Amino acid sequence: EDAGDLYDVLDAAAKFYRRQLDASDTARAYFDSRGLDAAIVSRFRLGYAPNQWDALKNALGTSAPRIALLEKTGMLTSGERGSKYDRFRDRVMFPILDRRGRTIAFGGRILTAPKVKSTASDAGEGTEAPEPASAVDARAGESARKSDPGPKYLNSPETPLFHKGRELFGLWQVREAHAKIPRLIVVEGYMDVISLHQAGVTQAVATLGTATTSDHAEILFRQCADVYFCFDGDRAGRQAAWRAVESVLPRMRDGRQALFLFLPDGEDPDSLVRKEGLDGFESRLKNATSLSEFFFAELGKDVNLGTLDGRARLAERTRPLLGQIPDGAFRDLMFGELERLSGVKTALAAAPSEAPRTGNRNARPPQRSLVRAAITLLVQQPSLARAIEPPGPFATLRQPGVALLVELSELGRARPDLSTGSLLEHFAQRDESGALQKLAVADFPGGVAEARAEFLDAVRQLERQTRQQRIEELQADHAQGDLSDAGKEELRQLLSARTKDTR
Ligand code: UTP
Ligand code: MN
Repeated sequence: EDAGDLYDVLDAAAKFYRRQLDASDTARAYFDSRGLDAAIVSRFRLGYAPNQWDALKNALGTSAPRIALLEKTGMLTSGERGSKYDRFRDRVMFPILDRRGRTIAFGGRILTAPKVKSTASDAGEGTEAPEPASAVDARAGESARKSDPGPKYLNSPETPLFHKGRELFGLWQVREAHAKIPRLIVVEGYMDVISLHQAGVTQAVATLGTATTSDHAEILFRQCADVYFCFDGDRAGRQAAWRAVESVLPRMRDGRQALFLFLPDGEDPDSLVRKEGLDGFESRLKNATSLSEFFFAELGKDVNLGTLDGRARLAERTRPLLGQIPDGAFRDLMFGELERLSGVKTALAAAPSEAPRTGNRNARPPQRSLVRAAITLLVQQPSLARAIEPPGPFATLRQPGVALLVELSELGRARPDLSTGSLLEHFAQRDESGALQKLAVADFPGGVAEARAEFLDAVRQLERQTRQQRIEELQADHAQGDLSDAGKEELRQLLSARTKDTR
């Protein structure tokens, strides 16, 4: 047999479960009770596995090779004496689809009402990894006694087609709904995904009873640049969020953004979107916490940044994690933030383990002589001002002489034929007059073309310094916790411009 046969048998199983759903009032009533309409049931190809040991096996396992296929896809399980029977019984069924919409596995849920989440007592019930196959088998064997329905959710085991660390429930439906996916929202449960889609949040996906892996992170970011992770607000939720942080850091290439949404205690996205509606959920997303914010809040939780020791400890803990971030604007932002919080120059300290960076883009000290050089060139050749946009990209730079430089550029633009002589005349009554006269006769090697190149180079460097100054301002605001969304966006763009600039 080949993989095609495996897909075929899973497709047949999905269709079988779908027919069984049509035939079962109880199963349909269950979905009704969860508020799912017919359209969403069919969009997610939901079904029902009847309450029998061998319904699927009898329907599809019509020959020994077919039975072998069913087994290989994880649809059968074996009892103690090697007898084979249906893995999923009396459960509503959630097909897990691959990127091409083919069924590769299933999740199945028992038909009892959802339990209200009570923080601690849930722990044993497996929002963790699903149980090992052997434990499930043992339980399935027992569950002939009607009393034990087994775990709330049962998933297909790992098979040649299904690796749960790489699949995301709902991704196929997201891709169906969007020509270009604007964002992805990662939630924990099957019902969360379905409920969000029904409410209009058609970018929801779920990991399958596992923590977010870095394979997941890469798959998510390949679909779109903005990925939201939803977690419970409790301690377990924050722990899960931290695992997500660890898995996304190595994937944070430029332009990618990870955001974290912590839900109120006792709620999941399903319950929340029903309570607060689409608008309520959207406004929570708008207020999501950025990765950097969550990162430093978590790591800084039990260090005292008021002490040298605490700051050193923060730097020590943070550096190896930040070292995993790919080169680029986000990495710079994070190291910048760490430097600011800890006062420790970490970017360079982290460098030895990596390929040497070309050019030390952040190391250039502010050069006052740069302003002076630009002024000299403008005085000697006022028409150079026309090579730049007014008021010049350096207008907000806080350095001595910048105001004069701006004034000269404006003058040079306004009066295209301005000569050095008339320029000096224009400034005759001003304090700067003497200095400008000296600059006018200062020696400048090279001709007109060289002067222009020199001027443009000086302007470019000043522009970089201006940008760096603004980045530091925004980072300082950010550290105070009062950076607006617009500010964050500006910072992101500045950092990415800085990166591009040095490539
Ligand atoms: P939850 O218990 O939070 O699921 O588990 P949920 O979607 O909110 O469940 P209901 O239907 O509303 O009650 C989250 C996810 O963890 C996995 C499943 O993937 C589930 O969707 N899980 C949970 C298991 O694999 N096994 C379990 O026994 C429980
Ligand atoms: Mn739920």
